[in-house]
Amino acid sequence: MESLISLVNRIQRACTALGDYGEESALPTLWDSLPSIAVVGGQSSGKSSVLESVVGKDFLPRGSGIVTRRPLVLQLHRIDEGREYAEFLHLPRKKFTDFALVRKEIQDETDRETGRSKQISSVPIHLSIYSPNVVNLTLIDLPGLTKVAVEGQPDSIVADIENMVRSFIEKPNCIILAISPANQDLATSDAIKIAREVDPKGERTFGVLTKIDLMDKGTDAVEILEGKAYRLQYPWFGVVNRSQADINKNVDMIAARRREREYFASSPDYKHLAHRMGSEYLGKMLSKHLETVIKSRIPGLQSLVSKTIAELEAELSRLGKPVATDAGGKLYMIMEICRGFDQIYKEHLDGVRPGGDK
Ligand code: GDP
Ligand code: NA
Ligand code: MG
Repeated sequence: MESLISLVNRIQRACTALGDYGEESALPTLWDSLPSIAVVGGQSSGKSSVLESVVGKDFLPRGSGIVTRRPLVLQLHRIDEGREYAEFLHLPRKKFTDFALVRKEIQDETDRETGRSKQISSVPIHLSIYSPNVVNLTLIDLPGLTKVAVEGQPDSIVADIENMVRSFIEKPNCIILAISPANQDLATSDAIKIAREVDPKGERTFGVLTKIDLMDKGTDAVEILEGKAYRLQYPWFGVVNRSQADINKNVDMIAARRREREYFASSPDYKHLAHRMGSEYLGKMLSKHLETVIKSRIPGLQSLVSKTIAELEAELSRLGKPVATDAGGKLYMIMEICRGFDQIYKEHLDGVRPGGDK
């Protein structure tokens, strides 16, 4: 199954590389049919922090105000051994091993597209992380939903962000991580509102409650975490991310995770839920869910991939053989990937047909 997910990651990457070619081929369809996980919520609700903890790495710009101004498509690839590194699609062949520089490059690349203003752009940044310490996942960090434009932003920004977020999460294959801060009323949660709009039955929405440590004294999140306040199809996840003071003091991920574990384990309110709280648990459950989704789609995807291969072959012969031009070369690469994909599906199908149980 690992190999299947990593192949999905490769295809998404290849589809992006093809980019401008998309219009006339079947590739956008292929792209749209692959699962990904997007993080949505209000500004400063803790979206980037949650993503970082799921990954177990410090590399995302975080902080108060509008920090995330372009979508970030993040692909995690599990490698068996070796030193972890990151790579950007816009900087091929440059391997980053210093994750502080990854964060800086995200900021710089955001500025290149938007200027140093508070403008946003819907053009995604693509980042891959290769590490022995991650599970195979594709995650999307999105700008936060906001209620008013601030100085330097056009009035349209509120609707612009909402439309951009919706364009990612309305895809039926997008798993939604709806982030709500525990120190605000759940009834006002932008995350739940937009998630419910695109996924009314809650079939692909995971509710994540952040900032549990910041709740007013005398209040707690037990009702929500037990699913009694707002029912979702899946259980709620509670997390405690690093505070702004922690970020300023450079508290590292390992220390943060340990503290998060201790927080839940030692809290009289949450002790009974501790086994299913925290970022590490969230990461594991997401990976498991993704596998289930991919498995359930195998028959459908298989025919799509065959169709795509046929169309690509037609496209190639129309272009006249393996050409040295860019378009031809890229097409060829995609075809090879699709073939590999097809092969794995076929092998896997033997295991999932009725009667076979895998
Ligand atoms: P985003 O705008 O939704 O991406 O939110 P960020 O991840 O950038 O976080 C916004 C601010 O909230 C940062 O200063 C974080 O340190 C802080 N923050 C996020 N989650 C938590 C949490 O669980 N507890 C505490 N105390 N602070 C948090
Ligand atoms: Na923020
Ligand atoms: Mg953010």
